[in-house]
Amino acid sequence: MNIATTLELPCSVRLKSRIVKAAMSEGLADHHDRATEGHCRLYEKWARGGAGLLITGNVMVDRQYLERPGNVVLEDESGLAALRAWAAAGTIGDAQLWMQMSYPGRQCPKLISKEPLAPSAVPLDLLGNFAKPREMSEGDIEDVIERFGTTALLAQRAGFTGVQINAAHGYLLSQFLSPKVNQRKDSWGGSLANRARLLLAVIARIRQRVGEGFPIAVKLNAADFQRGGFDIKDSCQCALWLADAGVGLLEVSGGDFEHLRLLGYRGDPETAEDPAVAQGMVKAGYFTDYAIAITTALKNEGKAMPVMVTGGGRSREAMKYVLTVGGVGFVGLARPFCTTPDLANQLLRGDGASVTFSGSSSTGGETHHGLMRFKTYRVLRVQSEVAWYARQLKKLAAGHDAESSSSLALALIKHLCADMSHSMSRKPPTIAVAK
Ligand SMILES: Cc1cc2nc3c(=O)[nH]c(=O)nc-3n(C[C@H](O)[C@H](O)[C@H](O)COP(=O)(O)O)c2cc1C
Repeated sequence: MNIATTLELPCSVRLKSRIVKAAMSEGLADHHDRATEGHCRLYEKWARGGAGLLITGNVMVDRQYLERPGNVVLEDESGLAALRAWAAAGTIGDAQLWMQMSYPGRQCPKLISKEPLAPSAVPLDLLGNFAKPREMSEGDIEDVIERFGTTALLAQRAGFTGVQINAAHGYLLSQFLSPKVNQRKDSWGGSLANRARLLLAVIARIRQRVGEGFPIAVKLNAADFQRGGFDIKDSCQCALWLADAGVGLLEVSGGDFEHLRLLGYRGDPETAEDPAVAQGMVKAGYFTDYAIAITTALKNEGKAMPVMVTGGGRSREAMKYVLTVGGVGFVGLARPFCTTPDLANQLLRGDGASVTFSGSSSTGGETHHGLMRFKTYRVLRVQSEVAWYARQLKKLAAGHDAESSSSLALALIKHLCADMSHSMSRKPPTIAVAK
């Protein structure tokens, strides 16, 4: 078996290769939070580029709470025509296009909300960019569940071939799973079963709305890498519940805005030790060994849900190892697709042993010099890298090539200015939510 082997998921959808373009927030929405021609251009490039599956960046289920300005919002039928064009472009050449749906919880910047919602009023400690959240009421929780159902139904109507629920990286559903952020005393907090209740309720509501056979995927943290936080044992248990809930594909990542393991950064002295890193076990990316552990737990219990691992995978040999020895179903890649949109075709053709792409001066994970011990430096460093890649997405979407320069500071300044100006000129429409 290799990266070119097709695989049929239990939901009967066949993916034409084992390479997946993982979610990247595009920041390309118009001032009504709708998809644009930029989305179509970008996704057509990626669809022609050979990946079996393209997962969109965060599409928000509630326009009051975005992860960043420029997010597409899907809560009613107002932007359906633009979404149809996006779905058509992203499914060219038999590519699957799944919409990632997300609710930010406390990871909603002050620029968007002065009072975001979260499981408990535990603030995000990130240079004062995020306001203290308000603890969600039962009504707020029911509203979120319903919103995910509505967004999924609209995505299906628009022609997306599946949906992915973002329950990773410290967004709302991941906050509920975390014993550190979720300090609720009711039936939504406490035991792991209670903390996972919201994610499972969201899956059930989506299934009710989209019917059988439509792929529902989940992106889940292998761990959040905080002492006393969500760990790999919790993740394995959640994977079993997700399989029972009919999830078609489980993507494994890790970390959150405070602990950016998802990009390979390990400079945070406050985080729990990562056993895989400590034992030199990281063979093919940041979460390979975790994904193998989850795959094994599923197999041991006779569950057929395929697993995909995302983060730092760069060599063809390593990918082969993940698929053959590890039994993992798919490899997700994100940053390389910002500069090399036909990356999957290159890998499938066998051009070179490794993924070579013109990244920023760091490709994540390799930057562990002394300054990384200082939180302000660390946060700015990581944000500049994300900004650099986000700018490359905008260039591709505008029909240009990605740039080869690596001025991270300039990228961050331009990115922040663009976000600020976008948020000031947003004109969200007011149309009733579709039933
Ligand atoms: C610019 C940028 C935007 C991202 N946006 C999202 C997102 O919307 N949803 C998500 O789940 N992950 C997002 N990620 C994380 C990626 O999906 C992926 O987990 C991470 O980049 C590690 O994979 P890589 O090493 O192949 O880049 C983003 C990453 C980058 C660089």
